[in-house]
Amino acid sequence: MRSQTVFWLISLLVQFKIYMSFALVNPILPGWNPDPTILRVGSDYFIATSTFEYFPGHPIYHSTNLVDWELIGHALGRPSQLSLLGTPSDAGAWAPGLRYHNGIFYLTSTVRYVYTYELRLFPRSFFVTTTDIFSNEWSDPIYFDALGYDADLFWDTNGDVYNTWSGINNAIDKIYGIYQNKVDITTGNSLTPAELIFTGTLPDNSSARPEGPHVYLINSTYYLLIAEGGSGPEHRSTIQRSPSPSGPWESNPTNPILYNGANLSLPVQYTGHADFVQDTDGQWWGVALGVRPQTIGDFNHIQLGRETFLFPVTFDSQGWPVFNYGQPLSTEISGVLTNKPHLSTFYDEFTSSNTLGNSYYFLRTPYKPFHSLTARAGFLRLFGNSYALGDRDTPALLLRKQTSYNETFETVLDGFNPESNSTEAGVTVFYGDFAHNDIGLVGSSDGSGNRVVVTRIMRPAEQVGPWALTTTNSTVTTVTYTPLLTKSDPVKLVIVGNPTSYSLGFAEENDLNTSKEITYTATFDSISMSVPPVNDFFFKGASFGVYNTGNGRPSLSPADIMYWKQIPGA
Ligand SMILES: *[C@@H]1O[C@H](CO)[C@@H](O)[C@H](O)[C@H]1NC(C)=O
Ligand SMILES: *[C@@H]1O[C@H](CO)[C@@H](O)[C@H](O)[C@H]1NC(C)=O
Ligand SMILES: *[C@@H]1O[C@H](CO)[C@@H](O)[C@H](O)[C@H]1NC(C)=O
Ligand SMILES: *[C@@H]1O[C@H](CO)[C@@H](O)[C@H](O)[C@H]1NC(C)=O
Ligand SMILES: *[C@@H]1O[C@H](CO)[C@@H](O)[C@H](O)[C@H]1NC(C)=O
Ligand SMILES: *[C@@H]1O[C@H](CO)[C@@H](O)[C@H](O)[C@H]1NC(C)=O
Ligand SMILES: *[C@@H]1O[C@H](CO)[C@@H](O)[C@H](O)[C@H]1NC(C)=O
Repeated sequence: MRSQTVFWLISLLVQFKIYMSFALVNPILPGWNPDPTILRVGSDYFIATSTFEYFPGHPIYHSTNLVDWELIGHALGRPSQLSLLGTPSDAGAWAPGLRYHNGIFYLTSTVRYVYTYELRLFPRSFFVTTTDIFSNEWSDPIYFDALGYDADLFWDTNGDVYNTWSGINNAIDKIYGIYQNKVDITTGNSLTPAELIFTGTLPDNSSARPEGPHVYLINSTYYLLIAEGGSGPEHRSTIQRSPSPSGPWESNPTNPILYNGANLSLPVQYTGHADFVQDTDGQWWGVALGVRPQTIGDFNHIQLGRETFLFPVTFDSQGWPVFNYGQPLSTEISGVLTNKPHLSTFYDEFTSSNTLGNSYYFLRTPYKPFHSLTARAGFLRLFGNSYALGDRDTPALLLRKQTSYNETFETVLDGFNPESNSTEAGVTVFYGDFAHNDIGLVGSSDGSGNRVVVTRIMRPAEQVGPWALTTTNSTVTTVTYTPLLTKSDPVKLVIVGNPTSYSLGFAEENDLNTSKEITYTATFDSISMSVPPVNDFFFKGASFGVYNTGNGRPSLSPADIMYWKQIPGA
């Protein structure tokens, strides 16, 4: 009897300990992955996020347990789906919506090509479709008529299909609101006039920004989930309901249902732009974007940008959804799901296949390929082009998202023999045209045929905060040159990311396998990857990249990248 009691007590303790050690570790998609939308089909879960001027557009992540997510492809991978030539930084592919109906996957999107006054309004949203989401083959865009962004598709039980989006009242006042109409889902054409169905829960002025709408039908009640408050600390999610998919809306008395901005000392901020889904066990889960500022109360060090977070959704006694038990979103939610494996090293030796892995991005739509995995076995060969990294075009640049604040990026550059002092290849920590810091090799100017290390730092710490800069004059660049000892040895190039800074370094290798001590040529504040110039905005986060450029002239010297290694920190 007594030993039974002891056994029972011990097993209770063990169970309690297991329960306590269960934790959902956020973000589930580390590195910039804003504007998540989630979908379940059978036992498969899918998430899509925004990509702006990066190509291909809209990554699709897949999971069967909500814990382990795999990048399976992109919805917009052909130039006919996504032409980004000349697209400004942070325009491009905005928030997607992922839905499924009668065997067809739908991804809604808006691609913003320009930011000019003449455009006046937003562009037309569109959707692409596929019957096999794992095939990575989606249709060409099917355009809606309405001008706006954050389009969301909803199928009513009677077969009507609604498009719901964020738009503005007119080009002068620019008061944002949630608009809706019925559409023909084969053509995208409007069947009914666009109606303003909701203006949000905040004072209805130009800073309110109701956006990111999603319509749901749950137990015969229609719900409208939106994001509001702008994309900074005031960002939030609110929900309303109605007996009709078009309102009028009864607002949840506990709105906002997701909001961390009221307490600037919380480790996760900017939370909002949510979507939610029911799992195979009947439980509900939401996704939202959030940032992890690296010094409490200081939103300057958010170089990873807006990442994707997961949280449990429950329903209160009045039938209102409750996000994350009514608590602010955090990096660990105990008691649900299992521990997530720690981030592992990404190590690509370019040996295994003829196609580049799907986690690499181009800056804008490439005119033609500028890389090869077959030109030299075991290397990624980059053929340079005339565009420099700051050009609003398509430099020969390959990017991969930084995924943790402490993260080292490392590669070895081999076989690069620049024909002139404008021919340059190297690595970069890259945000966009006017925010990237680089270390590379360039031909020396003394006619000796030697190479020198060039370090280029844009917008260093002393020039930030508050930025007295505009987008037209924001580039303040410091260039330093460091001589190399040899004419042709391989050179290791390293970027060490810390929570509030980055360091750039190099080491000459006398063969491809020896490790030499790194010489660091610059350290800079990571603010330069996360604070936009005045009157501008940053929607992405930092990536690491390799490039080859003639800085305005064709580059004749290919650069061979031996491997790509990203080592995430604790
Ligand atoms: C909108 O209203 C809010 C709350 O009253 C106020 O803080 C904000 O400054 C207003 N914005 C504009 C552009 O009027
Ligand atoms: C829907 O209704 C059923 C039956 O009343 C109930 O068990 C369930 O909890 C409801 N679901 C939600 C999300 O309200
Ligand atoms: C804000 O969050 C911090 C950290 O969790 C907490 O210590 C503090 O009490 C919170 N402040 C308010 C006003 O809720
Ligand atoms: C980065 O590394 C430092 C030193 O190991 C550690 O104290 C810090 O918590 C890490 N930061 C993050 C965001 O992982
Ligand atoms: C490159 O070399 C040319 C002469 O060959 C020189 O005029 C020019 O200033 C050099 N450019 C740089 C950036 O050093
Ligand atoms: C950039 O332009 C703004 C206004 O156009 C001006 O106030 C500022 O001084 C300029 N900054 C630099 C570094 O030239
Ligand atoms: C580097 O090491 C690998 C195996 O570890 C070997 O195959 C290769 O030949 C070595 N390269 C050089 C240049 O020594």
